[in-house]
Amino acid sequence: MPSASGREWWRSAVIYQVYPRSFADSDGDGVGDLAGITGRLPALRELGVDAVWLSPFFRSPQRDAGYDVSDYTAVDPLFGTMADFDRLVARAHELELRIIVDMVPNHTSSDHAWFREALDSPPGSPERDRYMFRDGKGRDGSRRPNNWQSVFGGSMWDRVKGVDGRPEQWYLHIFDATQPDLNWENPWVRERFKDILRFWLDRGVDGFRVDVAHGLVKQAGLPDYTPPAAGASMGGNETGEPYWGQPGVHGIWREWHAVVAEYDGDRALCAEAWVNPLAKVALWVRPGEFDQAFNFDFMFAGWTAGGLRRVIRESLEAFGAVGAPSTWVLSNHDVIRHASRLALGADSPQGDGIGPKSPGKPDPVVGLRRARAATALMLALPGGAYLYQGEELGLPEVIELPDEARQDPTWFRTHGKKYGRDGCRVPIPWESGAPAYGFSPSGRSWLPQPSEWAALARDRQAGVTGSTLELYRAALRLRRTKRLGLGAVEWLAEWSRSRAVVAFRNRGVTVVTNLGRRPVALPEGRVLLESEPIRLGRDGRRMLPTDATVWLG
Ligand code: NOJ
Repeated sequence: MPSASGREWWRSAVIYQVYPRSFADSDGDGVGDLAGITGRLPALRELGVDAVWLSPFFRSPQRDAGYDVSDYTAVDPLFGTMADFDRLVARAHELELRIIVDMVPNHTSSDHAWFREALDSPPGSPERDRYMFRDGKGRDGSRRPNNWQSVFGGSMWDRVKGVDGRPEQWYLHIFDATQPDLNWENPWVRERFKDILRFWLDRGVDGFRVDVAHGLVKQAGLPDYTPPAAGASMGGNETGEPYWGQPGVHGIWREWHAVVAEYDGDRALCAEAWVNPLAKVALWVRPGEFDQAFNFDFMFAGWTAGGLRRVIRESLEAFGAVGAPSTWVLSNHDVIRHASRLALGADSPQGDGIGPKSPGKPDPVVGLRRARAATALMLALPGGAYLYQGEELGLPEVIELPDEARQDPTWFRTHGKKYGRDGCRVPIPWESGAPAYGFSPSGRSWLPQPSEWAALARDRQAGVTGSTLELYRAALRLRRTKRLGLGAVEWLAEWSRSRAVVAFRNRGVTVVTNLGRRPVALPEGRVLLESEPIRLGRDGRRMLPTDATVWLG
């Protein structure tokens, strides 16, 4: 039985992100699908997670890999049918895994019927008011309403043509031009999304991960804004972006909370809110709003002892102050996989990616060691944790993807200046000897898989002592039996200011991570988990090597 059961299960749950296109393909078209996921659920049960978050599988032209939804209550044929979805939920529940689906309310696809209706209706009509249409500046309206830059590159505005074929109003899109932003000041939009939430709750989902939960409301008057660094970002910079983190979003989340609360079973709401500092993120998880928010400060804390201690302390304080659990996350479908990112010399903001021409390639050996150590530290922390598919295999970012294979709109909208996110989205390996390493029976794969992934396939790691998969399994098992997710952090005084070591105790388990250059002598205690083998020093003391974590009990 997963540890995170019963009331407020999400407080300590480990939630595994499935990116449907890249998890398991049952029909051989080279794109993963719902039936593929259902078939592989037992592997997640064995891994020891509590819930699965599915990235979007709704009807979509797939311009942003499904984060451009054209029908929120239909399954895209690429991923299967509604019956496939119902089977997936039923099977997951049989296996005591909860299912969370991704809700994308900031924008629809430009193929959505609402947007088409808006285009077919005149300026000022109720249909237009569902989106962010504005007249252009200048006598002929040919200048953009403001200077905002899209997160994916280029302008946030595109101009439409009127029924007479002449250039007419502009519409706002924080992301791709095929992702028009909805107008959340419009009560009609708010009501439609409540219907959509109920549709999925009625089908038995256990909660929602909410996309861009910091973006729905824009500052009144849409004032010009120039980001300090080149190009806009997903947020988290606290520079007063007029499209991120506006106070008006919170009313929406209180309404959503009320809808979810109509249902039994403690369904969860998790916010993707890229704001900082953490005290601001905590506003999203006040009572009556979200249950959880992703902790992106932890994700980007980097590999220093001081940085990690600071972010852990701040997270526990900020979330604790509003009675919410902290969450922890190291990888997802938008960032460089942590087995590569933690060995990068420079910062790599969300979405930038890394590719063949990037300077300073990460050392894969160092990256994997650090990733294993970071995960072992993360899974010992109290609160909820998120895993991204394939990290349990130690998969690195795929850097050498050919240009022709790339599909992320960021790559196109920045004319190749930013590689974007394809490198973390490559279909994952299951069996080393099977076509597409078990991802697809036909051997097809929508992004090419590197040949080195044969050695990382799940079947090559299962049962192998010291493999990354076995490290994850052991950590999740211990986390469950020791109930670490419900514990508390007590820093070890000896290392509380160390530049090399992060060390704390949680429910009788001592956790030590060595980020320094030299091995560190371990305190008392039986080794429960080690991300690298512990060696004996000359004086017989047990030594924790560089870039490693140990749990002692
Ligand atoms: C955040 C999602 O995680 C990302 O993949 C997507 O491109 C944007 N939101 C837009 O929906």
